[in-house]
Amino acid sequence: MRVTVLVGSQWGDEGKGKIVDILSEKYDIVARYQGGANAGHTVEIGNKKYILHLIPSGILRENVICVIGNGVVIDPEALLEEIKILEENNISVKGRLLISHNAHLIMPYHKLLDSIRESGDQKIGSTGRGIGPCYTDKYARKGVKIVDLLSKETLQEKIKINLEEKNNLLKKIYDKEGFSIDEMVQQYIKFDKQIDDCITDAAFFLNSAIDEGKSVLLEGAQGALLDVDFGTYPYVTSSNPTSGGASTGTGIPPTKINSVFGIVKAYTTRVGHGPFPTELNDETGNKLREEGAEYGATTGRPRRCGWFDSFLVKYSNLINGVEKVAITKLDVLSAFDEIKVCIGYELEGKRLKSFSTDLTRLYEVKPIYETMPGWSENIEECKSYYDLPQKTKDYLDFLSNQTEMQIEIISVGPKRRQTFFVND
Ligand code: GDP
Ligand code: IMO
Ligand code: MG
Repeated sequence: MRVTVLVGSQWGDEGKGKIVDILSEKYDIVARYQGGANAGHTVEIGNKKYILHLIPSGILRENVICVIGNGVVIDPEALLEEIKILEENNISVKGRLLISHNAHLIMPYHKLLDSIRESGDQKIGSTGRGIGPCYTDKYARKGVKIVDLLSKETLQEKIKINLEEKNNLLKKIYDKEGFSIDEMVQQYIKFDKQIDDCITDAAFFLNSAIDEGKSVLLEGAQGALLDVDFGTYPYVTSSNPTSGGASTGTGIPPTKINSVFGIVKAYTTRVGHGPFPTELNDETGNKLREEGAEYGATTGRPRRCGWFDSFLVKYSNLINGVEKVAITKLDVLSAFDEIKVCIGYELEGKRLKSFSTDLTRLYEVKPIYETMPGWSENIEECKSYYDLPQKTKDYLDFLSNQTEMQIEIISVGPKRRQTFFVND
């Protein structure tokens, strides 16, 4: 039995999709445990580029069974579109995708409310996929779940209760049109017919599979600093991307999870608003964005860019219990004569002892940098750790020492082949 949680260690977009694709070759099952179609996980195989939003990236390995866990919020439109794209590319989904009956559904009013709230005073930089409003309803115990699709009466009743509230809010507060109950019920019944074969008690399936000796890779979306509890609140997503979320989001108890694997980008990026101590609002930041093609996989927005923050990653590793990591996008740093690494923060002339997500402090802190010499060599074709220039190895050693993490995988380009294990 081998159960591994894979987490993003920064603010998302670390390259989780690519590394799940690499690791899933050796797993029987890949499961998503939180988030929704706000995620954009890119996998490049040969000349093909796939962007997965809801379906685990393991779907690209034909022997892998994929599971969407109860902690995920599912947008029917996004899911059907994703299935369609995969099947058009001859990737079988039916029979290989299971969906938890306990997962919550994103409803049309969630997406509308997300965009309305985003245009108000408190801008988070949400992806507009309805994630926040859907989790709000989940915790308010008003959510519509996959299991509700099984009975038209239940579905109708739940939608009715929600629309009474949401239509009122839309009309009276936001001066918008409300939604029709009948249309929405029909839309979701049609969706049910298309995914009916995939619906199951995923917690039972996963636990039975583990008991039979099957291996499971749990694919996190977003990243630790976007976690609703441990991230830079309120500039976060509405779920728990950190490793603890893997248990509640699938029903696999902590006692069955063997390890936590972190995905760390060789520099830092963030999409949306909120503090970002090592952000570079200058030519160097622009160069990181262009060299790293840092544009959102879901929304196409330019990502904010800055140097690697080891103070932040050390915190993230602590919260996640990360043992080993993959470091991605190392090739992007070949373009820089010198590379900086943040090793701590200073606030009002004093060095902070530990990372804090307290916003008033995070906006004010000054990063303390160590400057390292760059390597000019192109490393995109390196096939092993030994092929890397000495200065690249020095950079990796430095990150490893600062964050107390063990680097197991190195990624030097977006393609499958541009990846190697340090000990190979
Ligand atoms: P995720 O959300 O964590 O799965 O990451 P995204 O897919 O949103 O963003 C990562 C981007 O970097 C994608 O476009 C990947 O194809 C690309 N990528 C992944 N690893 C590497 C790498 O080592 N080098 C380069 N240059 N690109 C990479
Ligand atoms: P992956 O899985 C990067 C960010 C949004 C916004 C905040 C809240 O591809 O790493 P939401 O739509 O969740 O209410 O937005 O979180 N965000 C991400 N940033 N990668 C992601 O996913 C993200 N998912 C959400 O930009 O700042
Ligand atoms: Mg992404």
